Amino acid sequence: MSTFEDHLAALDLELFARIPAQLTEADKRSLLAVQHSLRERIPHYTYLEIGSHLGGSIQPHLLDERCGRIYSIDKRPLAVADERGYKVPYPENSTAHMLKLLREVNPQADERIICFDADASGVDPAAIAPSPHLCLIDGEHTDRAATADYAFCRKVMGEHGVVLFHDGNIIYSALAGILESLGSEGTPFHAYALPSSVFVIEFGEVDLHKSAPIARMLIDNHEQYLFGLLSLEHYREVYNRKPIRMIRAVWQAWLRTKHGLRGAR
Ligand SMILES: C[S@@+](CC[C@H](N)C(=O)[O-])C[C@H]1O[C@@H](n2cnc3c(N)ncnc32)[C@H](O)[C@@H]1O
Repeated sequence: MSTFEDHLAALDLELFARIPAQLTEADKRSLLAVQHSLRERIPHYTYLEIGSHLGGSIQPHLLDERCGRIYSIDKRPLAVADERGYKVPYPENSTAHMLKLLREVNPQADERIICFDADASGVDPAAIAPSPHLCLIDGEHTDRAATADYAFCRKVMGEHGVVLFHDGNIIYSALAGILESLGSEGTPFHAYALPSSVFVIEFGEVDLHKSAPIARMLIDNHEQYLFGLLSLEHYREVYNRKPIRMIRAVWQAWLRTKHGLRGAR
């Protein structure tokens, strides 16, 4: 009979089968590859996520005996702000419902998971002990919130660890700002994107990118690249329509007059 380890090594999506997750199949494979590689390097790890909804992204960690403690931070609003310019509805979004589903995955859910019904600013960092080695940021999809969630994760993480962002194709300005500040601080890190839209920042030489499943995804990395660009295609479509082109032409002329810019787009 196959063990949990066999399923994880095979990046078997069955590990996500019991609770719906807001993830593509490729996202799920990427998250399993990260989990597989991390637990080889840190045999007893702690997981934290911001934005849990039904618990879909928690389930493979709850099935993993090597993951001793799980933190779930979720503000549980009924609609969530999003950088794409609209609010995403989350009706009947509750921690009680999530825990009910997670108990069906593993009856030890209540002992293993600590839940905070708040955004990260409402959580006392001292309450996050032991420190997480792996954090997933998947709460409010605005640049402001993703940056604040990242700052919280960095505060509570140890030296060695990994921060994951889901939907990097939406909060890419936050990612650019975060990487720029890591560069100017001189903090060593490795950053890369996995399919479909999982953005990874590694700290403290955990070197997950050297593990076989992640190295494979990084060689054939067209999938996440095209997913990210195609997810923005409708903006280009609207931006290139005739009335908008006329507004752009006026706007560019105004910019050239104001700043003396050439070829402003
Ligand atoms: C995209 S869903 C999370 C999906 C989940 N990770 C999965 O894979 O199935 C976003 C979640 O973030 C929560 N949320 C929204 N704004 C938040 C905030 N500012 N802080 C923490 N959680 C937030 C919502 O309640 C919702 O449950």
